[in-house]
Amino acid sequence: MEIRLAECAGFCFGVRRAVDTVYEQLEKGKTIYTYGPIVHNEEVVRELAEKGVKVLENKDALKMLPNCKAGEESAAVIIRAHGVPEEIYRILEEKGLECIDATCPFVKRIHRIVSRQSEEGNHIVIVGNPGHPEVEGIVGWCRGPVTVLEEPLEAERFVLPNDRKICIVSQTTFNYNKFHYIVEIFEKKGYNVSVVNTICSATEERQRSARTLATEADVMIVIGGRHSSNTRKLYEICSEECANTYFIQTLDDLRLELPKTVRLVGITAGASTPNKLIEEVQNYVRINF
Ligand code: F3S
Repeated sequence: MEIRLAECAGFCFGVRRAVDTVYEQLEKGKTIYTYGPIVHNEEVVRELAEKGVKVLENKDALKMLPNCKAGEESAAVIIRAHGVPEEIYRILEEKGLECIDATCPFVKRIHRIVSRQSEEGNHIVIVGNPGHPEVEGIVGWCRGPVTVLEEPLEAERFVLPNDRKICIVSQTTFNYNKFHYIVEIFEKKGYNVSVVNTICSATEERQRSARTLATEADVMIVIGGRHSSNTRKLYEICSEECANTYFIQTLDDLRLELPKTVRLVGITAGASTPNKLIEEVQNYVRINF
């Protein structure tokens, strides 16, 4: 039996950078908070918590932190890879807290696009999950009307309330084909649309290589956080190609039964999954089957 890891799997550039930033700051011996979990992976967050990093769950928790007076050493608040609304930066400044911005540069680019486009009077459409922190962050950089949608049906039902131009962007982890399908719906409606494909190439690469592997594999294992949207998408894609697809957070979740006929076990992992976890799963399958 062969065990094969997808060509692209695990930590992406932005997540690696955010996690490294937290470790660098820890070395300076400061009190460290992250605004929201630094990445969508409970294992990573737990490890950081053990080292004393505290998570500010929301705006209210941030507001509760004591203000830092001039001359005092401030606690550092690290902004997660997914980014935050502009308002959070203002609150940090008002409170005199040190802000260390680990927003992924690809997400920052979306903030700049929507901010500029809405300043020009355009209606922003964000294709993505409205409950996802990245999307909430992007909404928080819009300076005018904004619509968030994730299903083609919502695009069909969309009616522009005026004759503004529409600027469409996407959540970085959105499914590539679905995004194009939704864009086509807008174009068919005859609106004046400008489209910026802001899906991150790390996502595309992971999705493509997961699909390629899943078409060949008898069993697929997808590793990643429960709340990680890109991991869930990988699971969806793999399930389409391989009926025996497992979604696990850690090795403890794996209840694998492999009949003798299984020839190839494929493994992939979301962009917030550390290598250590991937290796553990690989080794487990190798040793036990
Ligand atoms: Fe950034 Fe892309 Fe990762 S947007 S956080 S490099 S998935």
